[in-house]
Parts: sequence; structure tokens; C-alpha cells
Amino acid sequence: VVDVKGGPDQGLDKLGHCLVITGWVRTLRLQSSVTFVEINDGSCLSNMQCVMDSGAEGYDQVESGAITTGASLWVQGVVVESQGSKQKVELKVNKIVLVGKSDPSFPIQKKRASREFLRTKAHLRPRTNTFGAVARVRNALAYATHKFFQENGFIWVTSPIITASDCEGAGEQFCVTTLIPNSHETADSPVDAIPKVKNGLIDWSQDFFGKPAFLTVSGQLNAETYATALSDVYTFGPTFRAENSNTSRHLAEFWMIEPELAFADLNDDMACATAYLQSVVTWGSDLQSEHERYITEEAFGGCPVIIRDYPKDIKAFYMRLNDDGRTVAAMDMLVPKIGELIGGSQREERLDYLEARLDDLKLNKEAYWWYLDLRRYGSVPHAGFGLGFERLVQFATGMDNIRDVIPFPRTPASAEF
Ligand code: 4AD
Ligand code: MG
Repeated sequence: VVDVKGGPDQGLDKLGHCLVITGWVRTLRLQSSVTFVEINDGSCLSNMQCVMDSGAEGYDQVESGAITTGASLWVQGVVVESQGSKQKVELKVNKIVLVGKSDPSFPIQKKRASREFLRTKAHLRPRTNTFGAVARVRNALAYATHKFFQENGFIWVTSPIITASDCEGAGEQFCVTTLIPNSHETADSPVDAIPKVKNGLIDWSQDFFGKPAFLTVSGQLNAETYATALSDVYTFGPTFRAENSNTSRHLAEFWMIEPELAFADLNDDMACATAYLQSVVTWGSDLQSEHERYITEEAFGGCPVIIRDYPKDIKAFYMRLNDDGRTVAAMDMLVPKIGELIGGSQREERLDYLEARLDDLKLNKEAYWWYLDLRRYGSVPHAGFGLGFERLVQFATGMDNIRDVIPFPRTPASAEF
């Protein structure tokens, strides 16, 4: 309602205003005749200090101990100058309504809780300042991402989550299993497709209604089909990797931004990646002292770096072979503390080279018929990259662990909430 600590006047312009605040109790301090309740209404990180005494309607609920940390309240009062040193204004409350009690077991108390502990309370951690701030930064970065691509003429393409192709070829796909209750077993099920029964359910693993299907590891191949029709496009959605993601920078489910540029080579791709990153985290705002310190103390060792032209054997089938015959036009952008933020490449647009590469890797050419068609009908040089959105949020916030920048992390250790 009013950011009492932020802004130049710190809420002083609201002096004398009658306000209603609906929010959650962060702290509660009972003194002999007066009680201080800090309420956060979710609109900003600051709490409103609410001063209550027996003059307020509903104060009996404070006296009886019914209002505790975590409870939701409706309060009405007048903004007055605060005598405390921590805030310029406070709310002199004249009416209190306890909307929802909070059980004394509420685990988010005033003392600082560890990130590890808060991960076990993913449903309550948004009520802390750190997680409230991360949610806001994540939202701002998503908005800035769409803004950047939209303003640069890219079209957002939604790519499917269920797919038969393994874009990265790393065997990290989750299989889609269709579990249908026994009673749904029908006479027209092909006999050889009837799978075993597991826990009273038919196990259709390896089958998406009769065909193999997986959760997507990347929307790139789909993006290429639209780039070779509409020119520049991008995807922004969830992707899945069944890899051992017990690290501070891997999730089993993460969001990826994948632009795909038509009539473009690796240099265009790197220029796009650089312009994108500059537009969402560094461009247009003045240097604060901490930025200056960062630049002077960590200097160039602390800058994002692009590495390009990797050996072909360590990269995916779709990357364009360089003239040396040994490397591919691939690029990774590495950033301090996190490592790889972006992985991209120029795509192999030459039909004969792509077919030879699929043969080399013993990949099934039939399965890629539609992808080869893009090279058969009006092929163009094109390039793109994938940016892990959570790693971007880590980069922007300085959070150490990727599990703390996504609301509900999916890792081998946790998929509970
Ligand atoms: O380097 P990757 O595997 O590249 C692709 O998927 C390409 N198809 C992208 C493209 O050219 N369109 O993944 C791209 C980015 C990585 O740089 C990293 O930021 C992120 O996705 N990433 C992960 N983030 C969180 N958890 C994981 N398990 C991740 N795996 C990749
Ligand atoms: Mg990569």
C-alpha cells in the first residue's frame, strides 16, 4: 500500500491518510499498553509498522494472543509520523480484523533461516524478503526478455513439451508414460502394444498412445521450422533434462529462451546474445558504487566471455561444420560464478553435410525427415542459442544456488511441492 522505507519521502506524503492494509504479520512486539505489528502486504519488500492499543476495535484478539507471526490481518488506521528510528511513518490502527490465524508451528520466524531449510518450505518461502525479491527480479527478467525480442522483430513461437525428438542427443529425456486404469483396456488396443500391469494400472511406458514420446529437452528444432518461414523467432518455456542435476546450477525442469535467426551466421548469433544480455541486465542504468567496485576489483576477469568453434565430436548433430572439417560453429557464453549461461550455434543448413553427420553419429535419418525437409526446400543459413532462464536469474541476483531462483525446484532430491 505504501512503501514506507522506499522512495524519497519514505511515506511522509501519506501523513494523515486513512489506510486499509491487508497482509501477513511478519513480527509482533507486545509492550505493556501498546503492540507493534509489522505487516507485509506483498506489494513491496517493506513492512508497515502498525501501532495498536486498547483504543482499536478488535484489540482483544491481540491481547488474547490470537494474532501471531504468519497470521493474515485486515487493519485500518491513520498514517502518523513514527517515533522509531527504523521508519519515518507508521499506521495508528483503529480497527483490526484477524482474517486467518497462524498456527504457532509457523516455521518462518524473524531470525534468518538458511536457504537449505527454506527449500524444504517452498510453499512458505515466498513470505521471506529474499524470495519475494527473487520473484520480482524473475518477473522483471521475463518481461524484459519478451520486450527485447518483440522490439527487435522476433515472433514468439510456443514449442511443444511432448515430443519424439531428442534435440541434444544426450539421452537425457524423461519418458512420457500413459497410465490408464484397467477398465479402459479396449478390444482395439493393438495386442503387441498392450503393456504390463503395474499397481492396478496399465503401464504404457515407451508409449504415447502407441508411439514413443518424451518431455522436450529444447524447443530449438521446432523453432527452426518457424525461423525458416517467418524469419527471426524465439521460444520461452519449460524444458526438461533427466540428468544428474545435484549441483547448484542444474535443474531437472528449467525455463529456456531460444531465439532462432534466419539468414544469420555465428557472428549474428553472438551479437544477438550480447545485445539480449545487455538489454536485460546492464544497459541504460547508471553505475552504482557496487558496480564500480565490481568493475575495478574484478575487472575483466569478472566479465561474460564467449567461447566459439568447438571440436565437432563434443557437440550436437545440428551444428554447422566449419571449413577446417574438425570444428563446428558453436558458441557458449560463460559468466562469472555460474559458468555456461548460453549455448548456441549456427545450424548445418547443407542437406548433404547434415545427412553425413546423422550417418556418422548413427542417428536414424527417417526420424529426422521433417528436419531434413527444411534443408530440401529453400534452406537458409541460420543460427540461434538457448539461455537458461534460472541461470540468468542467478546472474542478476547473485543467488548461489539455482534451487533458490525458481519457485518450485525439480531436482532428483525434490519434486514434492
Ligand atoms: O547448451 P544447451 O544444452 O543447448 C541447447 O539446448 C540448444 N538446443 C540451444 C539452442 O541453440 N537453441 O542448453 C542451453 C542453456 C545452457 O547454456 C544453460 O544455461 C541451460 O540451457 N541449461 C540448464 N539450466 C538449468 N538446468 C539444467 N539442467 C540445464 N541444462 C541446460
Ligand atoms: Mg551447452
